[in-house]
Amino acid sequence: MKQKISMEQLAIAHSQELYDLTEANREYLREWLPWLDHIKSISDTEKFIESTIEESSVGGAPNFAVFYEGAICGVAGFHEINKQHKIGSIGYWLAQNYNGNGIITTVVTELVKIGFGELNLNKIEIRCAEGNIKSRAIPERLGFTYEATLRQCEWLYSKYVNHAIYSMLASEYNA
Ligand SMILES: CC(C)(COP(=O)(O)OP(=O)(O)OC[C@H]1O[C@@H](n2cnc3c(N)ncnc32)[C@H](O)[C@@H]1OP(=O)(O)O)[C@@H](O)C(=O)NCCC(=O)NCCS
Repeated sequence: MKQKISMEQLAIAHSQELYDLTEANREYLREWLPWLDHIKSISDTEKFIESTIEESSVGGAPNFAVFYEGAICGVAGFHEINKQHKIGSIGYWLAQNYNGNGIITTVVTELVKIGFGELNLNKIEIRCAEGNIKSRAIPERLGFTYEATLRQCEWLYSKYVNHAIYSMLASEYNA
């Protein structure tokens, strides 16, 4: 991983910095993420972090605080792991000021390595809202295959959005 970029598995110790970052980017993140209205105070960020720790311990789906030059700049990780079929789905967000540095491209490269290596997945998916061009650029840049667009997968405050589905297979990663 590039020197300036690092990841730490989400922990309660990240709560304050992560809440402050969320608060500062609330309007920006609201364009594409559905959960902003559920984060009203630091205790909501703590609950989110606790749930990711729990999910990681039982479901094996790790989530990470992403750091740029020592400061938290976003979150990335696995939404869920389907253990029977060995499928994982990656999600990510970055604070507005940190866009354009290749941070999430670098982080997702690392998550893919963890997914096929440590988590022994057969398939990794990335689902992006159809109109979220910057998000779609991540799997496209990393050689994921576009599979399909599914209709009205997500309620974004005032409208449903379609999801563009990208995936990579273990056989493609290892080739
Ligand atoms: C989606 C999102 C993470 C993309 O952020 P990003 O900064 O474009 O992505 P990266 O960190 O990988 O950086 C890529 C950009 O850095 C540039 N870049 C600079 N150095 C780079 C490098 N070494 N490698 C790759 N890209 C690099 C790229 O050219 C690109 O910039 P461009 O968009 O001007 O072409 C961010 O816009 C975001 O969080 N949006 C709101 C929440 C969201 O949509 N989450 C996803 C829900 S599915």
